Amino acid sequence: MRAAIAQAEVGDDVYGEDPTVAALEAKVADLFGFEAALFVPTGVMANHIALRMQLPAGSELVADADAHILAHEDAGLAWHGGIQTRTALTPDGLLTPEDVSRLIRPHLPHTLGTGAVELENTHNRGGGSVYTIERLRAIRAIADERGVSVHIDGARIWNAHVATGTPLREYGAVADTMSVCLSKGLGAPVGSVALLKPQQRAQAVLMRHRLGGGWRQAGMLAAAGIYALDHHVDRLAEDHANARLLAAALREAGLSVRDPQTNIVLVDVPDAPALAARAARRNVRISAFGPALLRLVTHLDVTEKDCVAAAQVLAHVA
Ligand SMILES: Cc1ncc(COP(=O)(O)O)c(C=O)c1O
Repeated sequence: MRAAIAQAEVGDDVYGEDPTVAALEAKVADLFGFEAALFVPTGVMANHIALRMQLPAGSELVADADAHILAHEDAGLAWHGGIQTRTALTPDGLLTPEDVSRLIRPHLPHTLGTGAVELENTHNRGGGSVYTIERLRAIRAIADERGVSVHIDGARIWNAHVATGTPLREYGAVADTMSVCLSKGLGAPVGSVALLKPQQRAQAVLMRHRLGGGWRQAGMLAAAGIYALDHHVDRLAEDHANARLLAAALREAGLSVRDPQTNIVLVDVPDAPALAARAARRNVRISAFGPALLRLVTHLDVTEKDCVAAAQVLAHVA
């Protein structure tokens, strides 16, 4: 990846002149069957721009209550976009077709109707939980029936693809817009892609610039993304196997572990911040995801051996 970065052909992307950025955007669009894509610095910005393309200020978005866009994006949609959300709590972060049907409201003289539905796949706070393609299609059908668009936060869509074998284009086919991340499990240092309709792209470029995300010789980062797509997708199966191994070892040690579906392991503990701090002192870095919830993530920089060692440390400090 470092070599690909060094060799990247670059230009000024603010002027649309960076050939490596153009190649990355074309590649990701093609993978998901979209006609337009925009390379942006972060997943937060990709979600933000894609959703703003569908939702003018004063409109409503349906999402699950634990969605990344609500829990971890600092109210950006409300702050910058004037978008309100209508949510439901779910056990695993995944909305059912029934949830969506109930949450979507029609426009009436005295009722703000729903403009779009947001689905996160895999779901971060849900412990890497995965939508089946059948459930996504059922939600898409309801959205179509009710005249509402669908955005997929696919920061970890690659994990969903590897875990289920669902082709990326089938995910693309159920979404009006998507965001996908090249960092995180794919291992690029930075970068996400917003997948859009062709008529949205010029407006999306403007919004990226307005948010301070217009970048110049970004081809070096795009080259890392292309490398990640070519070399780091199939290997996500190793991260999933490591997550299962970690979960089994922690359960064996008596901890209350939720079954991992992909590369995220959630552990219910009495005092998560204290436990995370004790593990950190032994060089195992774990997120306290709530007062009583730990999140462990497997990725291309941790080996099976690391996972065994981490489980021993966590079992010990717990
Ligand atoms: C589901 C989901 N969406 C979006 C993001 C945002 O990505 P970034 O940190 O690149 O802004 C994250 C980050 O963890 C995420 O988990």
